[in-house]
Amino acid sequence: MTDERERPLALPTYEKLADEYAKRAPTKPFNADLERPTTLGLLPDIEGFDVLDAGCGPGITAEHLLERGASVTGIDVSAKMLAHARERAPAGRFLRADFGEPLPFESNHFDLVYSSLAFDYVGDWESLFSELGRVLRPHGILVFSCGHPVADTLYFDPDDYFETEMVSDEWTSFGDPVEVSTYRRPLAAILNPLLNARFRLDGIAESQPTEKFREKSPETFERVSREPTFLSIRAVMTAD
Ligand SMILES: C[S@@+](CC[C@H](N)C(=O)[O-])C[C@H]1O[C@@H](n2cnc3c(N)ncnc32)[C@H](O)[C@@H]1O
Repeated sequence: MTDERERPLALPTYEKLADEYAKRAPTKPFNADLERPTTLGLLPDIEGFDVLDAGCGPGITAEHLLERGASVTGIDVSAKMLAHARERAPAGRFLRADFGEPLPFESNHFDLVYSSLAFDYVGDWESLFSELGRVLRPHGILVFSCGHPVADTLYFDPDDYFETEMVSDEWTSFGDPVEVSTYRRPLAAILNPLLNARFRLDGIAESQPTEKFREKSPETFERVSREPTFLSIRAVMTAD
């Protein structure tokens, strides 16, 4: 059993961050003009799909998924985040659940699982992807983003790149400084748990900023245009 199963790693952090995150993330360049367009860009036509938004936060991505004609169920460990999600995307259904644990859904249920920047808070991706594979129907699709292993290696400067390890950073761009812990992992520890859970890789994107990012933050735009930041992946569940 991993630590976050006793207490989800992200819970205290996002209970603190929820209000400022809900206020700032809709337009903050790293989210709105870098990660989100890259990850949403991997979605197929989801009109009529039953979609699970895993780690839905304040409902920004749920709103995008609903606008594309999907039925959306959002899950998150943070009750405060879920309150924002219900307000922002009232057509969605939102439940408190920890995706580091077995999910409260029947097997073969969803057409697609979407997740922006939430899986880095869980250490055991073998169990995570196996559980996501269970709740997806055969040929169901998983689209998610995580820290880019090259970016995380440059930023955290680990003793051993090949270890999956917990790392911490102080975030100052969502109001008062908050210590945020996540897991950094090598490329093989991102891809192998997917393949072991019988997903087939179907698309990969390394985040690229939009023109809006350049308008909002020209200097950072130059850097994130030339260096990786986030990794986005589309994978398809193989049939039994
Ligand atoms: C960086 S925020 C991203 C929120 C949203 N996906 C977005 O892009 O706006 C990460 C979210 O994942 C949630 N989260 C982290 N670990 C989780 C877990 N084990 N189970 C459910 N939600 C989790 C956090 O509470 C937080 O709302």
